[in-house]
Amino acid sequence: MSEKSTHKIQSFVRRSGRLSAGQKFGLNELWSQYGIDPVAENTIDLDSIFKNKQAVILEIGFGNGDSLLQMAINEPERNFLGIEVYEAGVGRLINEAYKHGLTNLKIIKEDAVEVLKNNIADNSLVGFQLYFADPWHKKKHHKRRIVQNEFMHTISKKLINGGFVHMATDWEHYAEQMMETLEAHTHFKNTTTAHNYLSRPERRPITKFERRGQRLGHGVWDMIFTNEK
Ligand SMILES: C[S@@+](CC[C@H](N)C(=O)[O-])C[C@H]1O[C@@H](n2cnc3c(N)ncnc32)[C@H](O)[C@@H]1O
Repeated sequence: MSEKSTHKIQSFVRRSGRLSAGQKFGLNELWSQYGIDPVAENTIDLDSIFKNKQAVILEIGFGNGDSLLQMAINEPERNFLGIEVYEAGVGRLINEAYKHGLTNLKIIKEDAVEVLKNNIADNSLVGFQLYFADPWHKKKHHKRRIVQNEFMHTISKKLINGGFVHMATDWEHYAEQMMETLEAHTHFKNTTTAHNYLSRPERRPITKFERRGQRLGHGVWDMIFTNEK
């Protein structure tokens, strides 16, 4: 195969820029406490990284981390694993988690698609959250959207029977694609009536990108499905 055909399509663009002192502190000084470095194809032992057997919720693309932080504070009886490639957001979330003394949050700073495939055990997650994923507006970029059949198939495998998928977006076309992808999968069942969306449930704090969308007059589509294997 040519180099071009083996090149992986990424669902993100790496954002860079100067890091604040707090973000640097989070990334450097607190990494050993909150960060997880997946090793090659080794499965991460979730009970051992969290030092308990609480249910684990995975969130991909937490951005600046404020909404994930709030959830982890609100739900101490659950563990949260966040995956994000945006360094400033990772640094900020770790710094804030430390200030709040959180022990139920861990962070991975890698491409979540790869981490899911290589390092997360099947039947190990109680929930999967994806809030305001990059919408990749242009048709020629739709292949970069993270929600694809194969990706949701992997999510279904990683979730326990009865686990949940919660996604939200402010881009109607992407909402429809998410809905269709979930409906096409035999394991996923809509928690509301068929082909219907939800309003933001109370447990999901408003996110930074959601606020930006609101300022631009965008709508918001939430969907929660269960995984019935
Ligand atoms: C539009 S932002 C939304 C951030 C946040 N959820 C919010 O609502 O404010 C999407 C985020 O997903 C991250 N992302 C996209 N694909 C990813 C991947 N494959 N692995 C890790 N992070 C990813 C991006 O870096 C970006 O920060």
